[in-house]
Amino acid sequence: MANGKISPFVKWAGGKKQLLYHLQKRIPPYFNTYYEPFVGGGALLLSLQPHKAVINDVNEQLLNVYLQLKKDAPAVIEILKRYDSLLCDVQYYLSIRREYNRKISVRELDAESAAMMVWLNKHCFNGLYRVNARGEFNVPYNNRRGGSSMDEENLRAIGRYLQQAEIEIRQGDFETACADVARNDFVYFDSPYVPISETANFTSYTKEGFTLKDHERLAALFRRLDSIGAFVMLSNHDVPLVHELYSGFRIEPVDVRRNINRDASKRRGKEVIITNYSSKES
Ligand SMILES: C[S@@+](CC[C@H](N)C(=O)[O-])C[C@H]1O[C@@H](n2cnc3c(N)ncnc32)[C@H](O)[C@@H]1O
Repeated sequence: MANGKISPFVKWAGGKKQLLYHLQKRIPPYFNTYYEPFVGGGALLLSLQPHKAVINDVNEQLLNVYLQLKKDAPAVIEILKRYDSLLCDVQYYLSIRREYNRKISVRELDAESAAMMVWLNKHCFNGLYRVNARGEFNVPYNNRRGGSSMDEENLRAIGRYLQQAEIEIRQGDFETACADVARNDFVYFDSPYVPISETANFTSYTKEGFTLKDHERLAALFRRLDSIGAFVMLSNHDVPLVHELYSGFRIEPVDVRRNINRDASKRRGKEVIITNYSSKES
């Protein structure tokens, strides 16, 4: 694709910027359709820019940003410029957050709610996306006052890529999103992480959360896709449960620096990249 380098429009928990280099080295040399059932900020999708892809997430508001950029990126950019033209303070932040929550509560998924999501991501604490039990975005303000909330050229390039490529945007559970994966398709799974310590709670990106049962379901799906001849790659923390769930496949540890962790000492760690095929690296 002729879009040069493009990168995620949001900072996303579990964003794959750190791991990207290791993932890129393990891309199968050929494949048909690319599937990313937990797309999040889409770091791998945007770096690979495959011609044909299916992307999916449970987060409907996040997918709306992809949809709106595909439909009319300049419209989203114009709205962001309008938000950026006023100096931000806590009142301003809360007024945008309130309006965003009103819109998502009635599922008003349009260019404005997409722009709000990108803007809130830049002005909220640590770029987190957290919702309460009612599904309302409740992350506090990060005290950032001014400056641009976007890389305008990047947003335009993402819009062009999404228009030029054959991209299907699905919303829902990862298992349903993979129902039509076929032989020689390539699937990259980047689910919410298994916690590093046993006492930590499983990460809750949405009000649904992602449980141990979901990790077991994912491992069963990995095995099923392997059996039909798809190329499957998955990343997660380097913890015993992950080794157990994927025993028999290639499990390669890699070093990463984590951005979203309140404790600076926990910002380095090990992850694993699991594949059902051999690559240049293995
Ligand atoms: C680790 S993040 C993906 C990060 C992404 N690779 C990136 O580069 O930003 C996990 C994503 O899974 C989504 N998710 C959580 N539960 C899900 C489910 N059951 N099915 C599909 N997506 C889910 C979350 O909304 C979140 O965007």
